[in-house]
Amino acid sequence: MACVDAFNRSISYIRISVTDRCNLRCVYCMPEEGVKLRKHEEILTFEEIETVVKAAASLGITKVRLTGGEPLVRKGIVELVRKIASVPGVEDLAMTTNGTLLAQYAQALKEAGLKRVNVSLDSLRPERFRRITRLGNLEDVLRGIEAARKVGLTPVKVNMVVIDGLNRDEVVDFARLTLEDEWHVRFIELMPIGPNVEVNHRGYVPMSEVRQEIEEALGSLIPARITGNGPARYYRLKGAPGTIGFITPISEHFCYRCNRLRLTADGRLRPCLLSDYEIDLKGALRSGAGVKEIARLMKEAVLLKPQRHHIAEEIFPVSRVMSEIGG
Ligand code: 5AD
Ligand code: SF4
Repeated sequence: MACVDAFNRSISYIRISVTDRCNLRCVYCMPEEGVKLRKHEEILTFEEIETVVKAAASLGITKVRLTGGEPLVRKGIVELVRKIASVPGVEDLAMTTNGTLLAQYAQALKEAGLKRVNVSLDSLRPERFRRITRLGNLEDVLRGIEAARKVGLTPVKVNMVVIDGLNRDEVVDFARLTLEDEWHVRFIELMPIGPNVEVNHRGYVPMSEVRQEIEEALGSLIPARITGNGPARYYRLKGAPGTIGFITPISEHFCYRCNRLRLTADGRLRPCLLSDYEIDLKGALRSGAGVKEIARLMKEAVLLKPQRHHIAEEIFPVSRVMSEIGG
């Protein structure tokens, strides 16, 4: 009983931002001083999130991903994972994290029912990693990735946003990791949303160039498959245990096969990352709406999901920052 939108896309996936807070300040995502944080009361409670997940499941949504900000800075996150994992109909529960706190949480998350994690990692060089994240320690993230692997939060996918003049020269180093071990590295095109839209616009590197650089250095890429149903296209280097994925929001929009909804930390349902149209679920929840009524509102939002975005053609401001929407 899948939920189908006006353009015949089956909606099967919801991304839930559980907090707008983050313990890092990545240069392309947040201003140095951080963003204005929402008050505690503005953020959905665990019970409210659970109601939304039940409503989503009743519409045939089977995949849930928790994001932030940084989801692991939300107090009680393991409890929330447990609640969501036990909702009938939720088959795949994953998390996107910056990995800094993952070593400490991996085991508990696994036991609570989390299936797997994606870890954002934009540099393998300690000093540069610090420069990009302003606050992070590379070592913490690497330990987090290791811990996630060990407890079976797999496949662990590593997301690298490729930025000209910042980390583009590490593309081949990241790709090489897939030859050595079961690393699943995904390269992502930088989108012109962030604290400085112009800077993000200038840093953009098309995946066609990334792919070419990898093939020139390491040989040709063979199409591959991996768990998950997101927008990445996957490949493998000859004989490699790991995979290489490309995510192309700019050079080749994947809107026509978009299967997701987004819930912001303050309880607004966003049918599209790049459209500011939102439906206020928090208001409904706090005036007494239950699973059924929330499901009805969600259906409405699905029908208003736009056909596609147009960021490749124009620079436009999105009124929220990524740490609020959850990437
Ligand atoms: N373009 C592409 N990816 C972005 N992220 C944050 N801002 C941008 C942007 N402007 C990514 C992070 C992380 C995820 C949550 O969103 O790197 O992987
Ligand atoms: Fe960096 Fe992700 Fe935090 Fe943004 S939300 S500052 S990209 S770790």
